[in-house]
Amino acid sequence: MMPFPKTRLRRLRATPALRRLVRETALAPDDFILPLFVRPGRGVRNPIASLPGHFQLSIDGIVREAREAARLGIPGVILFGIPARKDARGSDAVARHGIVQDAVRAIKDAVPDLVVVTDLCLCEYTDHGHCGVVARRGGRPGVLNDPTLKILGEVAVAQAAAGSDLVAPSGMMDGMVGAIRAALDGAGFAGTPIMSYAVKYASAFYGPFREAAESAPRSGDRRGYQMDPANAREALREAALDIEEGADIILVKPALAYLDVLTRVRDRFGLPTAAYSVSGEFAMVRAAADRGWINGAAVALEILTAIKRAGADFILTYWAKDAVKAL
Ligand code: PBG
Repeated sequence: MMPFPKTRLRRLRATPALRRLVRETALAPDDFILPLFVRPGRGVRNPIASLPGHFQLSIDGIVREAREAARLGIPGVILFGIPARKDARGSDAVARHGIVQDAVRAIKDAVPDLVVVTDLCLCEYTDHGHCGVVARRGGRPGVLNDPTLKILGEVAVAQAAAGSDLVAPSGMMDGMVGAIRAALDGAGFAGTPIMSYAVKYASAFYGPFREAAESAPRSGDRRGYQMDPANAREALREAALDIEEGADIILVKPALAYLDVLTRVRDRFGLPTAAYSVSGEFAMVRAAADRGWINGAAVALEILTAIKRAGADFILTYWAKDAVKAL
């Protein structure tokens, strides 16, 4: 036996500069997309209690946020809309002057180089809060798959026509990517890419978002269309189908509790792979930090680094601005 091991990993940990040289993962402003919540009005800035530092903003405020994101070097924002009126079909989502369509035009006018991603789902626009058309069969509420696909295609075209750079379907309907691709191509938007929330779990981490987007289902839950948190192999099937249907980017959501899934999807398919660090991930860190139990800024950077290390090419995160300022 040797008196001490020859290989000493601590040699390369001795100074900050040595550690920088051998660091495998580094965060950069290019890694982030900032989520924004837009609602009608002027000068509206409603704080979102469970997402401190984030607001429901009217379009003037959204444009200001978009400018700041661009100034910080953040490549893009993702828009969620809270319409003036909700109905059974989610009509505002397809309207030429729907809230998100108007917001996209305003941002593209003001900051043309910023990537504007549009979340493509019905739950923010339907009065029942589900991600598709709801039917009652035998007393049990259910979301109808194929009738929903037709509407999703119309939403995609409305968003692309307004200038969306990237549509991001998040409703977990079977066949949604194929239907959206066909609708976009048929309407002259063959150049508009699709980022599919291919792997989206029925997660308890979405709570604060549903407050922010006023999109909680009135009855029931989303387990009939979102994935069971227990399943990882099924995630590969979801991703494979979406890629076959024409997805350009695959998204895994939530991020922190699903890093194993993120790594597998990224390794298996090699497509640009995004992760959504969701509202509950942000809120729980913030809540603990506010009590002085953890260092919130350090924990946030550690989590974001871990998500990138696990395979994310970029991260949708409520920490986008804070992280860039801390880098
Ligand atoms: C819409 C949608 C949700 C989120 C993004 N798009 C909520 C849901 O599925 O209920 C959640 C994002 C977050 O928690 O930050 N389908």
